Amino acid sequence: MTDHEPEAAGPAGVRRRPPKPQVDTSKPQSARMYDYYLGGKDNYPVDRAAAEQVLTAFPNLRYGALANRRFLTRAVRDLVGAGIDQFLDIGTGIPTSPNTHQVAQGLNPAARVAYADNDPIVLAHAQALLVSTPQGRTTYIEGNLKKPGTILESAELAEVIDFDRPVAVMLLAVLHFVEDGEGAYEIVRTLMDAMPSGSHLVLSHATNEFAPEEWARVHATYKASGISGQIRNRPEILRFFDGLEMLEPGLQVIHRWRPDPAPADPAGKEDGPDDEAPAPPADPFAGYSADQLDAMISGYAGVARKP
Ligand SMILES: C[S@@+](CC[C@H](N)C(=O)[O-])C[C@H]1O[C@@H](n2cnc3c(N)ncnc32)[C@H](O)[C@@H]1O
Repeated sequence: MTDHEPEAAGPAGVRRRPPKPQVDTSKPQSARMYDYYLGGKDNYPVDRAAAEQVLTAFPNLRYGALANRRFLTRAVRDLVGAGIDQFLDIGTGIPTSPNTHQVAQGLNPAARVAYADNDPIVLAHAQALLVSTPQGRTTYIEGNLKKPGTILESAELAEVIDFDRPVAVMLLAVLHFVEDGEGAYEIVRTLMDAMPSGSHLVLSHATNEFAPEEWARVHATYKASGISGQIRNRPEILRFFDGLEMLEPGLQVIHRWRPDPAPADPAGKEDGPDDEAPAPPADPFAGYSADQLDAMISGYAGVARKP
């Protein structure tokens, strides 16, 4: 891994040279552990060791991470379809294709995306997040969700997001790193209060409902690694949406939120010139029932609109 010092990219993206990130490789970090679950290479031995302990506690964790990235794509796609063209993606994570701006700008090249994360490793890879279409804008904010002012009051956000028009605030797999005692619900309220009517909250969150003992071990493992947080049940996650209008189908286990149709069975197609084409990659979710997947994925997702 190189120590990037990213310059901004796309012709119309916001041009900015972020400060040189100080990446601490002596302690595991949640962004790098998550990258490891997703099969990425932007992690260090200390992250891999901690992530392997988590996987020992809950071997299916990778399914949740993968389902979560798929939810990101579906939610952003549907919101762009509903006319939303501004996104504030907090707790962005290490870039993983497709990132929010790739989905949004792929459908609406004028879409604007502001990313925010507090981990220097994400900043180190911010270049991949700053590649914008000429018509759109992207930016990266080094901000802390636990101090929402560091995001809401940043110059980068003001440059990219027009607060007179609706914004989709994305909090994917990040609120379980914020405990109630740190003001998790108040933080979400502060963020949504700053957004105009018609804005949306897009949220996903790990849950202990389906495998409580395993998740107690996951939680303990993170805590022992110096990463605090709180795994919540469905009512506790639903509370984040207080005051908002939940979109259909409501708060669901992640894979049940507006699932894409299953891909057609390639074996069923007629003979033709494509016969030599390589088989599509196996779907890791194939062969499991929806109920089995609930427990494997162990996370909820939902999207709601601010009236
Ligand atoms: C599990 S990853 C999720 C990444 C991405 N949102 C996704 O769902 O694929 C959690 C991310 O949240 C970030 N994060 C954790 N606590 C944060 C905080 N207080 N402020 C900003 N980002 C935070 C981590 O650095 C990491 O990149």
